[in-house]
Amino acid sequence: MLEKKGLFRSSVSRKNVMAITGLFIIFFLIIHLIGNLILIIPDSYFPIEFWGNVENAHDMYNAYSHFLVSFWPVSVIAWILYSFLLLHVIDAILITLKNKQSKGEKYQKTDSGSSKWYARNMGLLGTVIGIFIIIHMAQFWLKYKVLEIEHDLYSLVIATFKIGWYVILYEIGIIALGFHLVHGIESAHISLGFHQKRVLKFIKTFALWFSIALTILYAIIPLVIYFKEL
Ligand code: HEM
Repeated sequence: MLEKKGLFRSSVSRKNVMAITGLFIIFFLIIHLIGNLILIIPDSYFPIEFWGNVENAHDMYNAYSHFLVSFWPVSVIAWILYSFLLLHVIDAILITLKNKQSKGEKYQKTDSGSSKWYARNMGLLGTVIGIFIIIHMAQFWLKYKVLEIEHDLYSLVIATFKIGWYVILYEIGIIALGFHLVHGIESAHISLGFHQKRVLKFIKTFALWFSIALTILYAIIPLVIYFKEL
């Protein structure tokens, strides 16, 4: 009955939209992390006989960034990402408004009844992440991909993470992302129909360790750059 009302009018399909867009964003976060870890690879890991004309992290990061803008299938995936990010935010707002209106069916009421603070504050965490993404994209994406006023992305990122308050801002954004992910991954699977106890237990453990790993790996990038002598 509910599902017949359409994508944005049924709270069941709203949860599915949250789940699918969220899982796609997680896929992006993994790829984005791998790409950005290049920033902190020591130059000794680039033996000339193996990498050819890529002699250091600077060359490799800029070659990787150039590939991202010049290979059209990546651009298509990027546009899917922007639409999904937007859809995820709109859907989250709609779900929050609906939950405030009705005391009946609540988003994620179907889960294990978790009362963890981060599960109750997904909206707040999402807002912190949203502000972080806006500042982040204005700093790098806008200058490099849209306005094309920056061509050496490696130097731009390094210069940014030499500024202490930027590093603090990134740490806050990344930690908020970590907490958002623990509950988000769990909820996404429940929304997509994984209800069996054993499967749920596995997903909960996976969500926790995956989020911890992703948070630590993202968090070390600005810290390593800030403290590294260049
Ligand atoms: C310390 C870690 C990070 C670094 C060094 C970094 C660096 C960058 C750079 C240089 C760009 C512009 C070039 C490109 O499009 O790839 C970018 C884009 C982007 N970043 Fe990050 N990023 C980091 C963490 C994050 C996090 C935690 C998020 C999400 C919460 C995020 C979300 C995005 C998005 C959505 C884009 C636009 C993607 C695109 O156009 O393909 N980044 N990032």
